[in-house]
Amino acid sequence: MSLIKIKWTSRLGKAHAIDAKAGTESAILELCENAGLELPHGCRVGVCGSCRVQVVEGEELLSERSFLESDTLERHRDGAEIRLACRATLRDVSATAKTTKSLVLVQAPEAIFEDE
Ligand code: FES
Repeated sequence: MSLIKIKWTSRLGKAHAIDAKAGTESAILELCENAGLELPHGCRVGVCGSCRVQVVEGEELLSERSFLESDTLERHRDGAEIRLACRATLRDVSATAKTTKSLVLVQAPEAIFEDE
C-alpha cells in the first residue's frame, strides 16, 4: 500500500501533516485522529458539515462523493473543491504509484446555509 501525506491547515493557519495508507476504508477524519490530529467535526456521519475541508491538491487521491456527502455539501452551497473529512476516504493508488503522494487540505470557510 502506498503512503499518502495528508497536510491539513486550520482557518487560523496552523498546519499539520500525517502519513496515511492509501486504500483503507477509514475516512480522512478517522485517519487523522488515529495519527493524533484532531480535525473539527460534529456528527461523524456526513450530515452536519462541521468537518468540511477544501482540497487544494490531491483530489484524485480521494474516493468519489457519496449521495449523502453530495447532499450535505449542496446544502452548504459548496463547490467541487470541498469534501467532508468524515466521509471521504483515500483511494488505493498502489497500482499506479509507489512514491508518497500529497493530499493538501484546508479547513473550509464558514458554511452558508440555504435558509440564510
Ligand atoms: S462530522 Fe458531520 S458531516 Fe462530517
